[in-house]
Amino acid sequence: MTPEQQRRQSQLAFAASRAELEVGSLVDSPLPLDQLLATGPGSPWVRRHFAGGLTAEVYQLEVGGRLWTLKRARNPCKVRNPDGQTSFLNEVQRRAELQALKRQADWHAPLAGIVETRYASYRQGLLLSPWIAGEAIGEWDERRLLQLFDSLLALLQLGFFEWDLCPGNLLDDGRIRLFDFGYMYRFDPLRACNSNGLLTPQHHGAERFETRCYYAHLLHLERERGQSAALAALELEKRIALDCYRRLHRKLSTRGASATVLAWLDGIIAQWRSALGGGLDGLYLREAWHSHLSDLEDDLGGQTCTPLTLQRIGWLQQCLHECGAQLQRLELLAGRTPDAWRAQLEQAQQQAHEWQVSE
Ligand SMILES: Nc1ncnc2c1ncn2[C@@H]1O[C@H](COP(=O)(O)OP(=O)(O)OP(=O)(O)O)[C@@H](O)[C@H]1O
Ligand SMILES: [Mg+2]
Repeated sequence: MTPEQQRRQSQLAFAASRAELEVGSLVDSPLPLDQLLATGPGSPWVRRHFAGGLTAEVYQLEVGGRLWTLKRARNPCKVRNPDGQTSFLNEVQRRAELQALKRQADWHAPLAGIVETRYASYRQGLLLSPWIAGEAIGEWDERRLLQLFDSLLALLQLGFFEWDLCPGNLLDDGRIRLFDFGYMYRFDPLRACNSNGLLTPQHHGAERFETRCYYAHLLHLERERGQSAALAALELEKRIALDCYRRLHRKLSTRGASATVLAWLDGIIAQWRSALGGGLDGLYLREAWHSHLSDLEDDLGGQTCTPLTLQRIGWLQQCLHECGAQLQRLELLAGRTPDAWRAQLEQAQQQAHEWQVSE
């Protein structure tokens, strides 16, 4: 069994048992349990209701002049795969661990970007956090990137691997905040690349952000302000990612990380350093191709497509049309002919239209 299969199996076993998992205590809750459970769009303490989440329904509550976020699990979750079905359990598990670490003096500041959990109960399907009075991130600038990579550095060192660093899971209230841990899994950073052990080394912390978020931002920049603006934005992000990975390498090496893990990080660092020294456009093409393709697979796999899925398909189709030879040279076509790719992308386009999720 792969590490991911093991994790899935033990989560499904936990879900099938009667075991409860709680974070915090109801004594600290701003509302008693019966009121939390009875909360609906019309409750007097509800200010706003977000019905769009795939795992949960989210309410903004106001109690005693303070704003709170109440997340109620959807049963079944709208993501139609085993990881989607266990994502609420997974989130409560991660919140229990992160909340304990946030209380430790050493980790309090590095984990400041991770939202606090005031109370959570897996069996009751509820989760209560302070409301983050922030905005969604449309434009990435240096401060935002630095803060995000600081949080990533802390999480990776501690063995938390966040797969779903998409725009809908990030808010900025002067600090970049993470608040959705449905697809954040544990891993051993000294022996593994991610929560799938050493099996999928193409996935790492920065790659997850780039795939789920940053290359979509670059796609937007390309369309609005042209290729050179997109390349400048990639350069900024890569400088920050490079610095983050150098620090990660040092810390893991001090703690006795395996030669395999250190060599793997060395490889990523060398590739970025060389691209930053000249050849950023080749890196852009390679990473954007992988990112749009990988995100597309996730969306099709979970049957959760959005207008962005269609834009990514459009980018891949255009890239195949305009840079087919370069894609072949960079060995990005995986031994398949451009015609085979065209047919596959056309089919993906049909499915993406069919599987648009209503927000
Ligand atoms: N603590 C918070 N403060 C402010 N807004 C929040 C908070 N938690 C959630 N939200 C809002 O609710 C939305 C959905 O929340 P969240 O991502 O946690 O739910 P989800 O159902 O797991 O989402 P999905 O499965 O679609 O990623 C967020 O995009 C955000 O706008
Ligand atoms: Mg979310």
